[in-house]
Amino acid sequence: MKIAVAGKGGVGKTTVAGTIARLLGRDGLKILAVDADPSYTLWSALGISADVASKIVPLTENESLVEERLQIEGAESYKGFFKLNPRVDDLAEKFAIPGPDNVSLLVAGTVEIGGSGCMCPSATLLKSLMRHLILGTDEAFVMDMDAGVENLGRGTTKGMDALLVVAEPGRRSLDILGKIRTLAQDINVGRVFAVGNKVVTPEDAEMIQEWVEKEGIPLLGIIPLDETVKQADRKGVAPIDLDANSPSMLAIAEIKQRLIEETSK
Ligand SMILES: Nc1ncnc2c1ncn2[C@@H]1O[C@H](COP(=O)(O)OP(=O)(O)O)[C@@H](O)[C@H]1O
Ligand SMILES: [Mg+2]
Repeated sequence: MKIAVAGKGGVGKTTVAGTIARLLGRDGLKILAVDADPSYTLWSALGISADVASKIVPLTENESLVEERLQIEGAESYKGFFKLNPRVDDLAEKFAIPGPDNVSLLVAGTVEIGGSGCMCPSATLLKSLMRHLILGTDEAFVMDMDAGVENLGRGTTKGMDALLVVAEPGRRSLDILGKIRTLAQDINVGRVFAVGNKVVTPEDAEMIQEWVEKEGIPLLGIIPLDETVKQADRKGVAPIDLDANSPSMLAIAEIKQRLIEETSK
């Protein structure tokens, strides 16, 4: 099971990614939760403590690691030559933090990829890591990213089971749904699914349903706006640990089940 979760900021990507990771872990899978969002808050939805999280340095921001792996010395040589196929196969083992339910967290970090593509050392490290996770191992992962799905890299399509795009009922987040779908097509991620979140009224649900139909993206499910998620955020615990039977957590459990069915087809 190799899935990535994308969408506009604030729609609930981290909540969905973290909860799905925990649920798959409870199913008995060993899960690597990969945080590739610049604000890296996946730890919170996984149930890793703020104290542990405060010591995290994303791999792309770990200068000594980037220097070692790309075989460069100091920032000056960044403009010069560096290794294009850095060693990455040991990074999960060395840097992932153990969490509950068989889930461990690797904070990869991210890089801004412009139109022409960034060829800086940290981008090369990230690209190699992504390629390794997607194509070079059998390990299951759930990746939390921002809207910049380009970081998944080209030519990795066959190794990915699904890209989930989370959207809330509102034009701005639904607009991004189509954009991410287009980007995903560009890099050939075949299976894109939508997930609706923060739904309150039947009109909210209808808006999401109409939009995904128009875009031709299958909808995996809809998650209600739920006080449990907010309360978990306030208390600094994972929503699944606060109340696994709350409406939002049950909805995510159904979505996870659908995901298993869809990807085993
Ligand atoms: N179903 C939900 N019900 C209530 N609040 C939610 C729900 N999903 C997410 N939130 C809240 O919305 C905010 C953004 O969620 P988060 O998962 O961090 O989104 P993202 O990763 O897309 O930025 C958080 O404060 C979170 O607690
Ligand atoms: Mg997030």
